[in-house]
Amino acid sequence: MFKGTPLLNEVIQSEVGDVKGKSLVHLLCHIGTDTLSWALLGAKVSGIDISPESLKYARHLAEQMDIDANFIESDIMEVMERVHEKYDIVFASTGILCWLPDIQRFAKTVRYLLKDGGFFYLHDGHPFRHVMNAEDGTTHPNQIVGNYFRKQVWQYDNMGDYTDPNLLIPEKSYEWDWTLGEIVTAFCEAGMRIEFLHEYPQYFYSGYTPYDVEDNKIERYPCTFSLKASAR
Ligand SMILES: C[S@@+](CC[C@H](N)C(=O)[O-])C[C@H]1O[C@@H](n2cnc3c(N)ncnc32)[C@H](O)[C@@H]1O
Repeated sequence: MFKGTPLLNEVIQSEVGDVKGKSLVHLLCHIGTDTLSWALLGAKVSGIDISPESLKYARHLAEQMDIDANFIESDIMEVMERVHEKYDIVFASTGILCWLPDIQRFAKTVRYLLKDGGFFYLHDGHPFRHVMNAEDGTTHPNQIVGNYFRKQVWQYDNMGDYTDPNLLIPEKSYEWDWTLGEIVTAFCEAGMRIEFLHEYPQYFYSGYTPYDVEDNKIERYPCTFSLKASAR
């Protein structure tokens, strides 16, 4: 068994606040590093992801750390049919919105998972950055080459990955863009109250080669945002 230390980014940890004794579900949890970080801070945690391979690692990490975490394999769009628990906190961060084909269904799913009086916290890339994406899929740091209001789904044939510049994924890949207005409105329409919407001039990691982002570089435009919405 090893103990581990929470790996959450400082902004996220302070904006979510004290999680001791709370039930928390982490959406699109990947290999569960953030999920388990919340457990180290005292939450009773669950994680949901579509990828069995990611969840295998998440469960392995939890076992090594002797943490009682519940990792659930599901497409987020099917959670309302497949998950029947309710939670104090629903958490999602860092690379979420682009994988959602339907922002309204996502917001309804978040509300469905929350106990009355609970809250949702999201921290992700700011939609303003979409203007740097040209129609041919290339990214142009600090240049307005794309359309903030673009509605078509992005389709990629041999997509790369920021974790490994040499990796090519031989499957079709799809991504979606949502404007800030669409995101906020979806949570309002799902019956939630927006507690705050914060915008930040830093992106969350430097490893995303196409964006050529420097760690914690302060830009003159919003790079990330956070949103807290409560379930009444
Ligand atoms: C960029 S990662 C999230 C990383 C995570 N926030 C972290 O910091 O560890 C995106 C995750 O979303 C998952 N995912 C993508 N589409 C999904 C869907 N429709 N339903 C559930 N999970 C999905 C992927 O399997 C992947 O683990």
